[in-house]
Amino acid sequence: MKFYTLKNDLNLPAIGLGTWKSEPGKVGNAVIEAIKAGYRHIDCAAVYGNEAEVGEALKTAFAQGLVEREDLWITSKLWNNAHESDKVLPALQKTLADLQLKYLDLYLIHWPVAFKADVGFASKADEFLSPEEAYNKGIVKSIGVSNFSLKKLKDLLVDATHPPEVNQVELHPLLQQKELLEFCDTNSIILTGYSPLGSGDRSQDMKKEDEPSLLENKVITEIAKKHNCSPAQVLLAWHLSCGTAVIPKSTNPKRIKENLESYDVSLTDEDLLKIKSLDKGYRYVDAKFFEVPGGPYKNIYDE
Ligand code: A2P
Repeated sequence: MKFYTLKNDLNLPAIGLGTWKSEPGKVGNAVIEAIKAGYRHIDCAAVYGNEAEVGEALKTAFAQGLVEREDLWITSKLWNNAHESDKVLPALQKTLADLQLKYLDLYLIHWPVAFKADVGFASKADEFLSPEEAYNKGIVKSIGVSNFSLKKLKDLLVDATHPPEVNQVELHPLLQQKELLEFCDTNSIILTGYSPLGSGDRSQDMKKEDEPSLLENKVITEIAKKHNCSPAQVLLAWHLSCGTAVIPKSTNPKRIKENLESYDVSLTDEDLLKIKSLDKGYRYVDAKFFEVPGGPYKNIYDE
């Protein structure tokens, strides 16, 4: 097990269970299996539509004595339709009620994108709001952001009274985000990587034709063979070598366990050099779905 200590002295477990795309009916069992396997970090979000089932699983885990609340790290995220100051607390309270928790360890602004309050997913220009900082205290122990580019993070730090502890972004060998990582290191912000395995289970409309496969990448599979481990474990161990946290999603008990066992894989300098050469700035989640004709958002990642 590896932890990263945040500016507020709290310890974020490096590997967490991702729950984006985890289907209802499966996510609860995944959470229980993960806790049994030794995970102490679960990554959630209101928009994933499965927090109530995660909450039931957490309740069961506590009741069965599998883990104590204070030994678990739970992250959730504020959806884009609740950035207005009077909407933040109700959104957070709904998440806490669904998760059946009194507090979160980390609450992230899910996207630097704001919708009007009654809009679930904006598709027309007049359903967006201008970006607005949202912040809450007391029932969240740490706050952070997600999907913030280097530029947006720098802008935020200019006048943030509570600088983010974490920025959660897409991160893997095809998208290594070196500049962002360096800036975060310098400013004591932990980067957490999502889609570390390439998120092959995204819905078809989020996928591009001819997407590169991370799990079948030749360099990755060769390194895996050498270490007698799986390609997924190489991808996750790479995060640990970069000092980034990572949240692989799985609802399969065998793969949930396998992913946590990446802690046991030690990549060599030679492996890391080979992986370094894979970077090509490739995004699986390109956020084009927020760029609607006449809308306020263009080039969300400032690239
Ligand atoms: P499953 O949930 O059936 O295990 P990401 O974390 O990048 O979003 O990727 C999630 C996808 O990767 C899911 O399709 C998940 O399937 C799959 N996956 C998770 N762990 C592994 C693993 N160890 N080996 C291969 N595929 C995995």
